[in-house]
Amino acid sequence: MNNINHIAIIMDGNGRYAKEKGLLRTFGHKKGVENVRKIALFSNKKGIKVLTLYAFSTENWKRPLEEVNYIMSLPKFFFDSYLKELMENNIKVMMIGDINKIPEEAKNIFLEAIEKTKNNTGMILNFALNYGSRQEIVKAIKNYCQDVIDGRENNLSEEEFNNYLDTKDLPEVDILIRTSGEQRISNFLLYQISYSELIFTNVHWPDFNEEEFDKCLHEYQNRHRRYGGI
Ligand code: IPE
Ligand code: IPE
Ligand code: MG
Repeated sequence: MNNINHIAIIMDGNGRYAKEKGLLRTFGHKKGVENVRKIALFSNKKGIKVLTLYAFSTENWKRPLEEVNYIMSLPKFFFDSYLKELMENNIKVMMIGDINKIPEEAKNIFLEAIEKTKNNTGMILNFALNYGSRQEIVKAIKNYCQDVIDGRENNLSEEEFNNYLDTKDLPEVDILIRTSGEQRISNFLLYQISYSELIFTNVHWPDFNEEEFDKCLHEYQNRHRRYGGI
């Protein structure tokens, strides 16, 4: 059995899901958020320790303003609807990315959810929000350089470098799943997925249900992780 501590998902395909139904992209985003609840509760039941979900990339600001605004209204919908249930299930909310650049309302709702769930001991539900891996790495290097200048650091190792990343408190990513058929990483966890098993599925995120999730876990269990060995 391969270990499963940390699963990361690029939740892609909300727009295409809606388009196929002849509906607006925003409809897909709403369904996508509802699916976050479903998959988070299911992962928690499965005993997965960390579920990291790519919710908004640093490049997604390029989208039309109405779409960005709609997406930024979704944290309120999500936590108003489901925070109680997350608490009941002992789920701890975290986030990675630059929270300071997201609209005040979304930011405050996130900070509140993080605060309220901070003592929960079940699964960590980690949102990558305004997250870009290149930006994260550059920030880590800048912070490291500052620590050297200030005399706090001078002997960088892999373990030390990890402490400069947003993911510093999280275990290694075991599985990276991307929904909706694209086979690329799109600036997500570039450094962290060095030895993750990559799984691509054609299912759009709003349709990615428990059964599809189980298929990914099954696929993962059939992989032989060698880490450079034999
Ligand atoms: C993923 O779905 C959600 C975000 C990137 C915020 P998309 O909105 O990218 O959906 P497609 O890829 O256009 O179908
Ligand atoms: C990646 O999806 C970002 C999220 C799922 C939040 P995109 O839809 O932004 O990626 P590209 O543009 O297809 O690479
Ligand atoms: Mg997309």
